[in-house]
Amino acid sequence: MEDPDQAHVRVRPFREEDRPGVLALAPRLAEGVASWRDAEAAARAAERWLTGSVASAGERRGAVFVAVRGTRVVGVVSVDRQRHFTGDEDAYVGELAVAPEAVRAGLGRRLMAAAEDWARGQGLRHVTLETGADNATARRFYAALGYTEEGVRLTRSLDRAVQTRLS
Ligand SMILES: CC(C)(COP(=O)(O)OP(=O)(O)OC[C@H]1O[C@@H](n2cnc3c(N)ncnc32)[C@H](O)[C@@H]1OP(=O)(O)O)[C@@H](O)C(=O)NCCC(=O)NCCS
Repeated sequence: MEDPDQAHVRVRPFREEDRPGVLALAPRLAEGVASWRDAEAAARAAERWLTGSVASAGERRGAVFVAVRGTRVVGVVSVDRQRHFTGDEDAYVGELAVAPEAVRAGLGRRLMAAAEDWARGQGLRHVTLETGADNATARRFYAALGYTEEGVRLTRSLDRAVQTRLS
């Protein structure tokens, strides 16, 4: 870890000057993608999600918070509103990433606290998110923060070669 003292890191709302640093974290979001998916396509999609989240925050439909050490972006979280099928409106965390050199210093927790504060401020009662079943780090992280599984998405490949890998 570059700087174990997280007091040197500020968590604040996204500013336009953060954009390159935020987009540089996109490959982190492709980690833990299922082995039968295209990892490069996932990284490209992650850039699009982050760009969309920044636009959504700009239009005040959601929010993006960054963790910055000096001028360097070392973490990002995006949150917006999503309708659950029961009709509830939830807060939905679309992206959360901490730079590899800054992990395990509490930044993920601080970024999620910022997203949850935003959700409370919007009068929302639940925060939901999705992560890869293979993303063991993220699953441990979210469990440590009190997140529980609400739904499970299943995949069955129709490609014989992939089916062998899945079984
Ligand atoms: C998941 C991620 C955001 C965690 O960020 P972080 O800043 O390292 O998390 P924190 O330091 O706030 O950790 C909070 C708690 O989560 C748990 N945790 C975090 N990383 C863990 C790991 N690798 N193994 C086990 N528990 C872990 C611990 O309980 C930790 O508390 P502790 O350090 O006091 O034991 C970061 O690893 C990351 O960016 N991963 C790649 C992107 C990703 O997977 N994003 C989420 C899914 S979209």
